[in-house]
Amino acid sequence: MNVLVTGGAGYIGTVLVPMLLEKKLKVTLLDNFLFQQKFEIEDKNLKLIRGDVKDYSFVNKILSENFDFIIPLAGLVGAPLCEIKPEEAKEVNENAIDFLCRNANKDTKIIVPTTNSGYGIGKKNIYCTEKSPLNPISVYGITKVNAEKIILSRGNAISLRLATVFGTSPRMRLDLLVNHFVYRALKYKKIEIFEGDFKRNYVSVYDVARAFIYSIDNFERLKDNIFNFGLENVNLTKIELAKKIKDQIPDFEYILNNNKQDPDKRDYIVSNEKILNTGFKFKNTIEAGIRQLIEKNVQDLDYSKCSNI
Ligand SMILES: NC(=O)c1ccc[n+]([C@@H]2O[C@H](COP(=O)([O-])OP(=O)(O)OC[C@H]3O[C@@H](n4cnc5c(N)ncnc54)[C@H](O)[C@@H]3O)[C@@H](O)[C@H]2O)c1
Repeated sequence: MNVLVTGGAGYIGTVLVPMLLEKKLKVTLLDNFLFQQKFEIEDKNLKLIRGDVKDYSFVNKILSENFDFIIPLAGLVGAPLCEIKPEEAKEVNENAIDFLCRNANKDTKIIVPTTNSGYGIGKKNIYCTEKSPLNPISVYGITKVNAEKIILSRGNAISLRLATVFGTSPRMRLDLLVNHFVYRALKYKKIEIFEGDFKRNYVSVYDVARAFIYSIDNFERLKDNIFNFGLENVNLTKIELAKKIKDQIPDFEYILNNNKQDPDKRDYIVSNEKILNTGFKFKNTIEAGIRQLIEKNVQDLDYSKCSNI
């Protein structure tokens, strides 16, 4: 089987690609190395192509290979980055997906990561399920919701609505909430929290990579479905998250700042029952993820090289 992974040199991709290679799949990785990130994976089954998903004639040539699966990870990722570059966000997150859908062989199966931030601002104590109305409030959320619609209307696809991802990766991102908080707790012994009561759902980058493998292995059973993908019962306010980190790093303080706003306004709780009912088992807890970030000494990383903004 051969798999095209766009954006495979990113935070999720550099965890996923070695898992695909371990399964002896042939992987074609297309990435424009937007962050000048290092890429150190080598394998006889890996074809690395430096290029832009917006370069349609180039992408068309790549698609002539007829892939069994496409995993489109390439994107401008995160609310702050998309706020700065709204047009490019639409081009990469939405239009390039549309192009892939129109031009890939119709037998090619697509597994796309979308985001549960599409739920926007939820209702207190009401869990968002895959049937809940979508109400994206950031440019990022809007482009991802539109991409999901495009992919599902094409068919032969699965959408994984990811929670906020945490954990270590060869292409580390410290701008993700859990990673960011652990970095600041270790480096500055202080976290300033805006909108501390806003709730979100979380998931480990290792489980996210496992979800793509699971989707490949169980495609026929899962196809043409949307799945929320986050840890069940890990819908935490930012304050609760800070407390969990304090359990493992006792010597930092967190300060609530009610005068500043988070550009990413999401506030909701999510049910992940649907993916659990298919038999998927999450393996990585948030406590283990925090421990791995501490063991990895993330405070020593250069933040500017590990952030999408
Ligand atoms: N990390 C999360 O919390 C999270 C949550 C929900 C969904 N997602 C989705 O997962 C996917 C991967 O996210 P990530 O966290 O790995 O982000 P990332 O920014 O680390 O990875 C994105 C990758 O896409 C590449 N890229 C950007 N523009 C490109 C272009 N025009 N052509 C080719 N490559 C391009 C970048 O170089 C990078 O390697 C994205 O689609 C994102 O929306 C991530």
